Formats: sequence, structure tokens, C-alpha cells
Amino acid sequence: MKELVFVTNNKHKLSEIRQILGDYCKIMSLEEIGFSEEIEETAPDLAGNALLKARHIHNRFGCNCFADDTGLEVDALDGAPGVFSARYAGENATYADNVKKLLEALAGNHNRTARFRTVIALILDNREYLFEGRVEGEILTEPCGLTGFGYDPVFRPLESKKSFAEMSAEEKNVISHRGRATAKLQTFLSLTVKEAK
Ligand code: IMP
Repeated sequence: MKELVFVTNNKHKLSEIRQILGDYCKIMSLEEIGFSEEIEETAPDLAGNALLKARHIHNRFGCNCFADDTGLEVDALDGAPGVFSARYAGENATYADNVKKLLEALAGNHNRTARFRTVIALILDNREYLFEGRVEGEILTEPCGLTGFGYDPVFRPLESKKSFAEMSAEEKNVISHRGRATAKLQTFLSLTVKEAK
């Protein structure tokens, strides 16, 4: 079975991806290949950051690998926080700090349309591929729900009456940005590495 390194330190994402892609590839973590450094995300967009992380590991280890990057784009804020979603309220901001800053920035604003976008960069047999998933929705006026992470309590997808934080992980995965990007990666791998099974 082909080995594929997932360039992340997030154990939650790793187990999610293993469940989805485990039939096609053996998914290795950064820890398993002995990499424990931080890779700085200095690119101006999501695709750039995903590629930067995948290339860093590919250049160092010569392995097949993929990396992802996600951003929340709010129309009334000209696409912010976007690529800065993790550090919107500052370098060491918590999820709660970021949500608070977002609600303050949108206070009194009726235009609350937004989207989550995930870009996955895959390097397979020295070729680069990009997969994108997005979900359109709106920013609520106050947090709702207790599940999930990040901006989940204030994001409601158009196709639901619930915020992401009011959904189970399974419900969220079906319509989420990351779920959709991962589904594209899964389809690609199922066609490309089928014979390697
Ligand atoms: P990352 O690129 O997946 O690390 O995501 C960057 C930031 O976007 C995270 O720190 C979260 O604040 C936010 N984020 C990413 N995915 C989600 C999600 O599914 N729900 C809510 N917030 C998210």
C-alpha cells in the first residue's frame, strides 16, 4: 500500500483522514517520520500555504505527502480573516478571542455572508495537485452550540438551520469545506493508487 504523509500536528485531523483514506493509502503522521519542527505559514493565500507545507516535507524527506490550509472569508470584511483565521485576534489568540473579535467587527452589520474554504496540496510521485472544498453560509450574531472548534459556534451553513457547533462531527463532515476537499482527494486517490492496493 502506498504511504502518504499528512503534514499536520493536529491529531483530530489525522484520525479523521485515516478513516476516510485508509483504504487507499497508509497515512503517516509527522511524528512517525520524525519531524517535530514548526513550518511557518508565510504565503499570502491558502493554496500557497498548503503547498509550502507539503513542499517543505517533500524536499526534506522525498516522500509522497499532503497538507491543508483553511480560512474563513467574511464578505463584509473583504475576505478577512481568510489566511489569518488562526491568528485573527493575535499570534497566541484562542478560538474564543477570534470569535469575539469577529463578532465585534461585524456588530450592527446586516451583511453577514461568509464561507469556509479548505485547500489541500498533494505531492504524489513528484507531481503537485490542489483540491478545494468550500461551504457558503453566514456569521451568526452570537455563538450557538458546543461541539466543534474555531469559528464553528458562529458559522451557519446555508443548507442548514444549525450552526456547525450544533452538529455532530458526521453531520458537519458531509457539508463542510474540509469534508468536501477531502472527498475530492479521496476520489483522486481511489482512481490513481487503486492498483497499488
Ligand atoms: P487550519 O488551516 O485548518 O489550521 O485552520 C486555520 C483556522 O481556521 C483554525 O485555527 C480555526 O480557527 C479555523 N478553522 C479551520 N477549520 C475550521 C472549522 O471546521 N470550523 C471552524 N473553524 C475552523
